[in-house]
Amino acid sequence: MARKPMMVGNWKMNLTLDQAAGLAADIRTRVAALDRVERILCPAFTALAAVRDALAGSTVGVGAQNMHTDASGAYTGEIGSQMLQGLVTHVILGHSERRTHCHETDADINRKVHAALQAGLIPIVCVGENEVQRQAGETAAVITQQVTAALADVSGGAAPRLVIAYEPVWAIGTGLAADPDLANTVCGDVIRILMADLYDGTVAEQVRILYGGSTNPANIESFMAKADIDGALIGGAALSSDSYGTMVSLTARQIAA
Ligand code: PGA
Repeated sequence: MARKPMMVGNWKMNLTLDQAAGLAADIRTRVAALDRVERILCPAFTALAAVRDALAGSTVGVGAQNMHTDASGAYTGEIGSQMLQGLVTHVILGHSERRTHCHETDADINRKVHAALQAGLIPIVCVGENEVQRQAGETAAVITQQVTAALADVSGGAAPRLVIAYEPVWAIGTGLAADPDLANTVCGDVIRILMADLYDGTVAEQVRILYGGSTNPANIESFMAKADIDGALIGGAALSSDSYGTMVSLTARQIAA
């Protein structure tokens, strides 16, 4: 069965409560007829309930941008998986901004993956090499290490539910998207083949692998034309209903063609 394409909007630390609810309502209208593409919006924690309410009864889903390694407990200021249940279906884990600024390790991300799966949430696991690693020719090694560590002890039964997002750090928010062929090579020849090694060919065929990093309405089709890229994790371009909506409709048109 073909993998359903997925457009995930990562709003990062943007939008007030009212702005988030308003944007969600606008996007809901804009993408209403496009459910051949899975659409997930990931607002900040503060806006999760408002966005969930704005999207209620639609087929647009909600995701969180992070969560703690533990389900609940004495961690002042943190959000655990238990608190996300009923609010979201997905959770972004291991985004490079969290790896860099919040010092998240592969081991932390692995604990979060297990916590998410246990809570019935779908992890969107982010991996990606930085500029220095890219220059040194270490991309495949870095991605292999990050995926293997994030998925340690995840069963073959749970693995197909995961989403993996390949986001080269140097492409995020820079306007310098990766070359689509290169991104497809990492998604296919590195990540999907690794999934076959870690699990089996069926899991590798089922798992969805997204590309992220400076995607926009002008370049999305070139990524979605690639066999091993199943969608996008979209930052800046997801902050407008017009650009996000255009990316979803271009993708829907592409798969119908
Ligand atoms: P960008 O962000 O689309 O603004 O480059 C992508 C991301 O960080 O997920």
